[in-house]
Amino acid sequence: MSSFKPTNIPIWKRIQDRIGVKVSNKGAKLIDDSGLPIPGAELRQGVAGNPDLKWFIDGGELGVKTIVSVLGKQGIEFGSKESVLDFGCGCGRVLRHLGQYETVHLHGTDISRPSIAWCDANLDFAMFGTNRLHPPTRYRSSSFDFIYAFSVFTHLTHELQTLWMAEMRRLLKPDGLLLITVHGDHYLNHLSESEKAAFYNGRLVIKRGESVGSNRCAAFHPQKFVADSLAPGTGFKVVDFIREGALGNPKQDAYLFSADA
Ligand SMILES: C[S@@+](CC[C@H](N)C(=O)[O-])C[C@H]1O[C@@H](n2cnc3c(N)ncnc32)[C@H](O)[C@@H]1O
Repeated sequence: MSSFKPTNIPIWKRIQDRIGVKVSNKGAKLIDDSGLPIPGAELRQGVAGNPDLKWFIDGGELGVKTIVSVLGKQGIEFGSKESVLDFGCGCGRVLRHLGQYETVHLHGTDISRPSIAWCDANLDFAMFGTNRLHPPTRYRSSSFDFIYAFSVFTHLTHELQTLWMAEMRRLLKPDGLLLITVHGDHYLNHLSESEKAAFYNGRLVIKRGESVGSNRCAAFHPQKFVADSLAPGTGFKVVDFIREGALGNPKQDAYLFSADA
């Protein structure tokens, strides 16, 4: 006999009780504490590696905490920025928590059409668009004061990383800053012995490069590669390196770059 017992507890209340995040429903949509809709499981999986609702909300908030603290170390307030780009924003996991900064012009771009369609329909405080796997983007040169790319260079081949860093450089104002997160030393146990040897020698390691742009493709960044090759090769210098500093993408390393004049 089935143990199923009918319940009149609404679905949103059951989800809320299970995950411990305050959610409710508006029409057929799940919304978070601040009233913003929450994307479906497939889109959440695409950005966070799993569909967990609580982690989607908490991880996004931790992404903002990362931005605020990395800029804060330079004596810069996020709210003082005029124009900001979330490169590889997915379904807006991080950007959704930035709506409070009303004076900052927020933009998000990604190769995923379904993610951008969702952002466009649900996050009306920012502007969204898609880009192709290869640069350029549609933005004019020197459009942004600050660009962040959380766990995006983690899924690009060497060639595309170089091209996209150069595009980030083009999009930034002369005194602009770029924050990216990557797989560093913490992820060594994902590598074979020969890959580890390459990593220790300061070489970028790429797994499943044929799936570039998807989460299947995984890039591993030794600090030496970023500081001595990726940054200077594309007109940047490293301003700050925070080992395992990507709070919303644990335990990725965080790098802050400025233009190398
Ligand atoms: C692991 S998800 C991270 C999403 C988001 N940054 C976050 O932290 O929630 C990687 C994202 O990078 C996007 N992406 C991959 N290659 C890209 C490219 N060439 N241009 C823009 N976005 C890209 C993917 O579509 C995906 O949304």
